[in-house]
Amino acid sequence: MTLITDVRLRRVLDSRGDATVEADVRTESGGFGRGIAPSGASTGEFEAVELPPEEAVAAAREHAVPRLVGEVHAGNQREVDSVLRGADGTENFSEIGANSAVAVSVAAAKAAADVLGAPLFHHLGGTFRGETPVPLGNVIGGGAHAAGSTDFQEFLAVPVGAPSAVDAAFANAAVHETVGDLLRERGHDPNKGDEGAWAAPLSDAAALEVLAEATDRVADEVGFEIGTGVDVAATELYDGEAYRHTDEVRLEAEQTEYVADLVEEYDLVYVEDPLDEADFEAYAELTERVGDRTVVCGDDLFVTDADRVRRGVEAGAANAVLVKPNQVGTLSGAVDAVDAAREAGYTPVVSHRSGETEDTTIAHLAVAVGAPYLKTGAVGGERTAKLNELIRIEADAT
Ligand code: PGA
Ligand code: ZN
Repeated sequence: MTLITDVRLRRVLDSRGDATVEADVRTESGGFGRGIAPSGASTGEFEAVELPPEEAVAAAREHAVPRLVGEVHAGNQREVDSVLRGADGTENFSEIGANSAVAVSVAAAKAAADVLGAPLFHHLGGTFRGETPVPLGNVIGGGAHAAGSTDFQEFLAVPVGAPSAVDAAFANAAVHETVGDLLRERGHDPNKGDEGAWAAPLSDAAALEVLAEATDRVADEVGFEIGTGVDVAATELYDGEAYRHTDEVRLEAEQTEYVADLVEEYDLVYVEDPLDEADFEAYAELTERVGDRTVVCGDDLFVTDADRVRRGVEAGAANAVLVKPNQVGTLSGAVDAVDAAREAGYTPVVSHRSGETEDTTIAHLAVAVGAPYLKTGAVGGERTAKLNELIRIEADAT
């Protein structure tokens, strides 16, 4: 029933107005699925390769489509994904592009779910999962996502006490609005960065102060706890020798100290990419210091690669794994990274990219794998597409 009969690829727009790859998959029995690849700005060195979309589309048409059409069942996700790997023939999808691969992988999963008449998260394995993840809301952005703003890339609201995902999503939106008000009260005229977060010429400390005030205010209003977190995206600050912040240059040990101090001072419940993507040892040191009180999440460190997760586990680096399907190129690869994390007691955090689209797959994936967190921004159509999908999933399941 789910035999693939047609795969189409095209170039479409992402939220930055850049091109990305969209794939449509059709099956014998009339099933249809569409997947769109997101795109990062602060991409990790060890990620699967995103090719220029036109090249990725042409290469996938040539190498992957003939091996899928009439040959593979969309319902067999492992086979779809291994055929994509085989058609590519490289370690990192540099032949057909991880952008084409992930678009086809997702489109096949949706086509199979369509044939089954089941929501995507059911098909991906979420039938028995009762809980929906807590959305992490990016409310102040800088780094590679907004010029002239903070050094850190993201300042996040983490509504850990929310009774439901819908309450959490609205709390994050309220924190976002409150941050905007507070910035204007302080004489700023904030812009918006790539993920809809506010951008203003703030020090990281000043941004943390504003974030704390906004989360406290909203927590009082909604009556549940809202923690705070950051994505440092530290690789973007690291020049091979030191971490170059606007106010200070920090050597590796100083960066570890600095982040550990911030965790204490601001009671951060979530810290992503605090150190360079290649530095498992420094991660281990930081995790040793603060891992019992905060989520230390590896994004560029792990790049959704199960082998890198296992390497990190061996080193004691981090205690959580960011999961971005396009970093590895297939849904199977993303699920493998989740499994590797789970095996070691690490927390999987399913995530969007800075360049996004209306595709809502990550909301389904987060529910399917039972991830405690879904990082997908706070406002903006391409972000709320995922949040609204999560709200629908939660409403249907309860
Ligand atoms: P990116 O940013 O999509 O630009 O890599 C998101 C993140 O670093 O988490
Ligand atoms: Zn990140």
